Amino acid sequence: MASLSFTGTHIKTGRSSASGFGLPRRPTTLIRPSRVSFKVHASEAQEEPDLSVNVNGLRLPNPFVIGSGPPGTNYTVMKRAFDEGWGGVIAKTVSLDAAKVINVTPRYARLRAAVNGSAKGEIIGWENIELISDRPLETMLKEFKQLKEEYPNRILIASIMEEYNKSAWQELVDRVEQTGVDAIEVNFSCPHGMPERKMGAAVGQDCALLEEVCGWINEKATVPVWAKMTPNITDITQPARVALRSGCEGVAAINTIMSVMGINLDTLHPEPCVEGYSTPGGYSARAVHPIALGKVMNIAKMMKAEFDLNNYSLSGIGGVEKGGDAAEFILLGANTVQVCTGVMMHGYGLVKKLSAELKDFMRKHNFKSIEDFRGVSLQYFTTHTDLVRRQQEAIKQRKATRKGLQSDREWTGDGFVKESESMVSN
Ligand SMILES: Cc1cc2nc3c(=O)[nH]c(=O)nc-3n(C[C@H](O)[C@H](O)[C@H](O)COP(=O)(O)O)c2cc1C
Repeated sequence: MASLSFTGTHIKTGRSSASGFGLPRRPTTLIRPSRVSFKVHASEAQEEPDLSVNVNGLRLPNPFVIGSGPPGTNYTVMKRAFDEGWGGVIAKTVSLDAAKVINVTPRYARLRAAVNGSAKGEIIGWENIELISDRPLETMLKEFKQLKEEYPNRILIASIMEEYNKSAWQELVDRVEQTGVDAIEVNFSCPHGMPERKMGAAVGQDCALLEEVCGWINEKATVPVWAKMTPNITDITQPARVALRSGCEGVAAINTIMSVMGINLDTLHPEPCVEGYSTPGGYSARAVHPIALGKVMNIAKMMKAEFDLNNYSLSGIGGVEKGGDAAEFILLGANTVQVCTGVMMHGYGLVKKLSAELKDFMRKHNFKSIEDFRGVSLQYFTTHTDLVRRQQEAIKQRKATRKGLQSDREWTGDGFVKESESMVSN
């Protein structure tokens, strides 16, 4: 894609998002309708909040995107996602040679919120040791092409990962683009299995490698590229900055969090248990939502300070099961919100509940569009030092307003004139 300069570093011109965030738009004040104006206000009140988003030149009917994983693993399930109304689908990550991808079973373990971890408790955390797609690339490419032919106006994004090899990355970019996919998400973040082959998080955790690989990809790509970030790093803003400076149009965060789900106290073997052994996996679902919000907030602040937000996008991922969870990511500046484990647990119809709940939130605040509230809460994050300063200032103000006589109870009888003079408003 075309390039522009960023403090001397090569970057592509992004396809623009709708607008930069961080400028809160004051919600229109609700006016009690008079008899004369009643008709106008009544029709305004019925106006549906608009969930559509424009991101990197792509238009999505809503911000809800299937996150890469089992819900985007083949034609049948991706078609289902489109039919149910998801704004976009990110397919399961593909690589050139699926024969090298060998999965094990069981590969999932769940954390339940219930007394004594009862098997009936609600699932709040999910660990997987699943690898990227083990289906032949040719098959996946054929299915991408078929989906784009059948759903030309829907957004299909390929997720890719390769070994540390320029020609392999560029061949993969070229082959997925030829299917007509609308964008590419690069999986720099799978925390298990793939790093052993210097793939996934092994690249996302090393800014020098990341810069080089992003350079290879963006030299070839003609569609928008999103870099999917790993949370398994001290400062997630560093790789996010490198990816955007190296030509990516967007970042997506977070992939799963490195975890050990638990040890079976009867057998003493770890979970998920494969022939008596396990390996640390990736944690997702509701339990990771606050961690994901923290990472997205940090990335959003960095992007706001250093990049033109009209050209770069942010996709929030992690533990979304309710419209409010998505609203939180958007309030921090996310353009889109991805859902993976939530779909595995609640099915593709979840998008209807998410949309209805997000609309309820928007109606409550009189937000007409996603851009009306995107990034609005970012301004309320500051340093601890600043919190202390603000609190001390507020206490001082409160004391100042309480200066002087406040109520009849406080008259002492020692000079009414003097005491009445103390009754000032501030
Ligand atoms: C079983 C499973 C498989 C996944 N496979 C992929 C993958 O192939 N590529 C990828 O980028 N992310 C993959 N992910 C990560 C998700 O896309 C997502 O980043 C993460 O699970 C957090 O979101 P969630 O809480 O909505 O699931 C997978 C997640 C799960 C649970």
